[in-house]
Parts: sequence; structure tokens; C-alpha cells
Amino acid sequence: MTIVRQAEPNDLPQVMTFHLLPGDRVTEIVERRMLVAEQNGTILGYISWQMRGCIGLDYVNRLVVKPMHRRQGIGKNIMTSMSIALTGRVFISTKASNQSAIALIESTDWTKAGELYGLLPDNEAEVFFWRDLR
Ligand SMILES: CC(C)(COP(=O)(O)OP(=O)(O)OC[C@H]1O[C@@H](n2cnc3c(N)ncnc32)[C@H](O)[C@@H]1OP(=O)(O)O)[C@@H](O)C(=O)NCCC(=O)NCCS
Repeated sequence: MTIVRQAEPNDLPQVMTFHLLPGDRVTEIVERRMLVAEQNGTILGYISWQMRGCIGLDYVNRLVVKPMHRRQGIGKNIMTSMSIALTGRVFISTKASNQSAIALIESTDWTKAGELYGLLPDNEAEVFFWRDLR
């Protein structure tokens, strides 16, 4: 069974084996801004966010599932567990070409906020969504 819980410092070595994204995983864990999906002691995915990172509202800036474990519902499980750590309006974004992320976001109660140009190279749009958590 997969459980989603707050990340703890001893999760760091496993989290660091993932597809690496910019940012400071240590700070995210210490500041309690990360959840992990764990199955029998193995970390299979994580989500992290910036408090008030999107014009004053909380902003999810990382969501990663281990490549070998994708399409098994882990991303969806993480998304539907976010209210264990966050409340109120939360934003998330991804580049328009990230079909898997867009499909996951659209299947988990987010509302499209719009697209921004000028953030990414080649004039690709970054697509923003919001969701109200309680
Ligand atoms: C995006 C990501 C987190 C999805 O995680 P996942 O665990 O594979 O997603 P799930 O298995 O929970 O998928 C839930 C739904 O999302 C959609 N989805 C997920 N991956 C998809 C894909 N590759 N193609 C189409 N739809 C997809 C489907 O609707 C899926 O439901 P289904 O399997 O019943 O059809 C994962 O692909 C990943 O880590 N990508 C690299 C990092 C990234 O792009 N992060 C997003 C930044 S916001």
C-alpha cells in the first residue's frame, strides 16, 4: 500500500535519487514543504511547494514520480493527499508540452488559470492551474 506523508530528513537520500529538478530539497524537508509517497519503505514520489510563492498564494513547484513507477496512480494519490499539509488556494504550473502533468492535473480537480508566455525558452507557454484545499 502507498501512503502519502510529510517528508522527514532521513527520506533525503532516496529523494535525491530522483530525476533532479532545481531547488533545495534539504530546505524543503526542514521547512515541512514536501510530501512523499512511500511504499514498504521505498519513496516513489514527492511533491514540494513554496509558501506564498505565486503572488502571495502557495505554489507547487515540484511533483515527481520515479520513472519505473509512473502510471500506477502515485501522482494522483499525492495530488489528492495535499490537504494533509496545505489549505486554501494553491497554484501549480507546468510547461504546455508536458502532456502527462497536464493530464494528471486535469484529472484532479484543478481549474485552469491561464497561460504565461515569456517564462520558458522558445516562447513555450507555462500553464497555471489553481485548486482550493480544505
Ligand atoms: C506527471 C507525473 C507526476 C505523473 O505521475 P504518475 O504517478 O505517473 O500519474 P498517475 O499514474 O497518478 O496518473 C493519473 C492520471 O494522470 C494522467 N496521466 C499520467 N501520466 C500520463 C501520461 N504519460 N499520458 C497521459 N496521461 C497521463 C492519466 O489521466 C492518469 O490516469 P490513468 O492512468 O487512469 O489514465 C510523472 O509523469 C512525472 O513524475 N513526470 C516528471 C516530472 C513532471 O513533469 N512533473 C510535473 C510538474 S507539475
